[in-house]
Amino acid sequence: MASTTSNKSERPISRRTALKITASAAGAAGLGAAIPLVAVGAPAATRVRMDITAFAKNAARLAKFEAAVKEMQDRSKTNVNDPKGWRVNAKAHADFCSVGLADPKQVHFCWWFLSWHRAYITVTERKIREISGDQTFAYPYWNWSSDRRIPKPYSKAGSPLANAVRFTRSSALSDGEVDFFPNDPVLKKLGVAALAVKKFEAKTAAEINRTFGGIARPNAGNKFGNNRLEGTPHGPIHNYVGGENANGDGGDMADFETAARDPIFFAHHGNLDRLWETWRRDAAKKSTEPKVDAFLKHKFVFTWLDGTPMEIAVEETLDTKKLGFTYDTLEVFRPGVQPLVVAAQSAQDNLPPVATDKVRVPLAPQAAGSGERRILEITDVEKPERPITVSVYVKPTDAPANDPGVNVGTFAAVRAGGEVAWPSQTLTFDITAAAQRFAGKELTVLLVPQRIRAQGAESYPPLKYGQMRIVTER
Ligand code: C2O
Repeated sequence: MASTTSNKSERPISRRTALKITASAAGAAGLGAAIPLVAVGAPAATRVRMDITAFAKNAARLAKFEAAVKEMQDRSKTNVNDPKGWRVNAKAHADFCSVGLADPKQVHFCWWFLSWHRAYITVTERKIREISGDQTFAYPYWNWSSDRRIPKPYSKAGSPLANAVRFTRSSALSDGEVDFFPNDPVLKKLGVAALAVKKFEAKTAAEINRTFGGIARPNAGNKFGNNRLEGTPHGPIHNYVGGENANGDGGDMADFETAARDPIFFAHHGNLDRLWETWRRDAAKKSTEPKVDAFLKHKFVFTWLDGTPMEIAVEETLDTKKLGFTYDTLEVFRPGVQPLVVAAQSAQDNLPPVATDKVRVPLAPQAAGSGERRILEITDVEKPERPITVSVYVKPTDAPANDPGVNVGTFAAVRAGGEVAWPSQTLTFDITAAAQRFAGKELTVLLVPQRIRAQGAESYPPLKYGQMRIVTER
């Protein structure tokens, strides 16, 4: 259990950091510029972001983390505008995420997604380091590939790390929700299917969902969409943790406006950020990251504990060591632990489908070793009326009615400021293994909602989309 002492809540910003701020703020004052983020609260040495289950094995370390978060939460309770408070820190997410899709501040649905969230976790971890006085601190991530429920330190009743509105359902995250496809040998090996994506930047709206970084912005035609990782597993895990109560009110994580109030937000995004590093281990993939100034020189602004604005350019976020952190491992699954397999609630035993359609698989199966993939494309998926997490199943049309089919993907629509945030978009699902198995056959595709409510019934209106088709990707 976290314990705090009252004098601790008065801990000032350390002298070292305060000096740095004063010096650079003075220098920048005449220019009206924010101070450089990279210098503020930077650790003396690179710190290692750990899996929370390993982090929590050191009880004293965990207690310091809890106490710092509690102090920040208490400050916000006293004064919601306290710059050292948890709420002010969380508001940064609302300001850049829960704004219109076309708002220049929006950092979702485009190529700022990974970089902005990396900077945001870094700022938050530096604040906690400063407030806790634990100079070794780095924000521990949640490896949801291995831990399909909220890990204990983030869910323990009474812990400041669990101090959030959550309506999490009782069942564990399914394979599809964490983007794991044990039936496909290639995807199984990757652990997270999004890692199969070959390039960073989308040139057209239709390919956003097949890229790792998303589309440039601004862009001609003002297109937006979820990059592959941002779509899944990012979205379904927001819906899972936040969930919904029986009245349809969402928990904190289920709405971008409130998501960062939940301390697990930074642990979820920490894991996504780690997976970016995993993806970049492949030099060919990394080489597709944009080299243009419109990307590299773009700046984000955050605020420090004393309210001072700080800025950071995207290019300064590309090397984690320069931000003062690395990860304990870049393996998807916790090393030494067998990958879990958690079947989704299937088309048979769950809510009725929000869409069904038929597609025909090409006659010839792909030649083994060709590297070709068969992709199910669902074009122009319109904004769902309510937040929803959907699992996609395929099965031969002539299969028995009780055949649950093969899960080939999951997607989610998450709220931002009470409304579903959804750029009408093309979604893609790698169905290579199923296409091999059912070559030449007609497949029925079923879009089945996964439960997001902690309890009570839930139902969803039909989902509107353009068409479903199978394309081959080389
Ligand atoms: Cu800025 Cu996971 O959302």
